[in-house]
Amino acid sequence: MIPFGVQVAGYQSLMKTLKGVVKTLPFPKPTLFSGPGSSLELCEAISQMGVHKLLIVTDSMLVKIGLLGDIEKKLKALGVRYAIYDGILPDPTVEQIENGLKVLKRERCQAILAVGGGSPIDAAKVIAARATNDKAISSMEGMFKVFTAPMPLYAIPTTAGTGSEVTIAAVVSDPKRKKKSPIMDPKLVPMMAALDGGLMTGLPPHITAATGMDALTHAVEAYISANALPETDGYALAATKLIMENLPRAVAKGKDLKARQAMSFASYYAALAFTRAGVGYVHAISHNFGAFYHTPHGLANAIVMPYVLDFSKNSCTRKLARLGEVSGLRKKGDRQPKLAARFIDRIRELNTEFGIPDGLEALEKSDIPAIARNALKEAHYTYAVPRYMDQRTCEKLISKMLV
Ligand SMILES: NC(=O)c1ccc[n+]([C@@H]2O[C@H](COP(=O)([O-])OP(=O)(O)OC[C@H]3O[C@@H](n4cnc5c(N)ncnc54)[C@H](O)[C@@H]3O)[C@@H](O)[C@H]2O)c1
Ligand SMILES: [Fe+2]
Repeated sequence: MIPFGVQVAGYQSLMKTLKGVVKTLPFPKPTLFSGPGSSLELCEAISQMGVHKLLIVTDSMLVKIGLLGDIEKKLKALGVRYAIYDGILPDPTVEQIENGLKVLKRERCQAILAVGGGSPIDAAKVIAARATNDKAISSMEGMFKVFTAPMPLYAIPTTAGTGSEVTIAAVVSDPKRKKKSPIMDPKLVPMMAALDGGLMTGLPPHITAATGMDALTHAVEAYISANALPETDGYALAATKLIMENLPRAVAKGKDLKARQAMSFASYYAALAFTRAGVGYVHAISHNFGAFYHTPHGLANAIVMPYVLDFSKNSCTRKLARLGEVSGLRKKGDRQPKLAARFIDRIRELNTEFGIPDGLEALEKSDIPAIARNALKEAHYTYAVPRYMDQRTCEKLISKMLV
């Protein structure tokens, strides 16, 4: 058995190499349209790109509540033909993605427009990659395994959380293996995106809260990452400030368009931070809560975040204090450890305010060793966390979330 200290040195050296790659590699950004109504401007841009037939990838709930109505009207007016695939559910599976690919081929579509939360956008990314890469989805898991550039992809997020419209990632669920695995490749970044807060005013408070806490987790984990860069720090701080100021308003008053638009920028900035700097143990554990119990991604992050930050705080006190400062939490005479602790307390307070519990009801004691094993495997080979934990520590941390 290799001593834990030696293992950590190995992970750290792997992450240093990753930082070198990420520093030099160009990360594309989508051409961006923003503001209420910007989704229709994106439709115009798509028509200018000479797309004959578009596949709209979405979830059936959004079709049902009429969220696609104006988009469809606009595409028709512009003469852009389209087919709709609305078979995506939260935590999209390999099967849902493969079914989407069948529709794309049957309808002879040449480009994809994703409309929805992270689930439809992630699924659309993988459909676009599968359309040009004749290989199993499972063989694209991990980093830089999408060899041929995907089919042109456009994205309209309808939640302010994942920031999938700008990230290099797509998360795919495999219920049979009880696994949720990220595919990460700069080729997955959509060509164009619209941040249209007007599409988010009907998002129910509990989804607004959970998705907003996902964005906050992205900002925080990217900021405390050992692979953070000056650029990612700027985005992470801006996202944290915007979320602290606007998320409570967006949850309490969903129709507040200013708060909605601010949240859609916050989610975009947080994603720009984590797509380079990476995330950490919160995501590694929460991906497994999603895989084992289908816990909504943002909700899982919100529950896990305070426990992981308590574990990490002595290794990133200065950074947590800075996040507390931009959140408006500094009091006169505060020293860094106090301000850092207050930032973690504020996250717990927000959870309480949003009705998010401090434990996970579905969590089974007997699953904890496997959840910890999977989480550590994901984190240690992908994320540059500020403080490392071993299997026993991770199991103990997860046990705190037993209800
Ligand atoms: N690609 C990335 O970088 C990245 C980052 C973080 C998370 N993820 C993944 O994204 C997925 C989660 O995405 P999500 O949190 O955005 O949620 P989601 O897409 O799963 O949607 C959650 C629910 O919200 C509903 N909804 C969405 N927009 C709505 C609107 N405007 N009005 C009313 N209802 C609406 C949906 O119908 C659905 O029932 C997970 O699979 C997660 O792992 C991806
Ligand atoms: Fe996330």
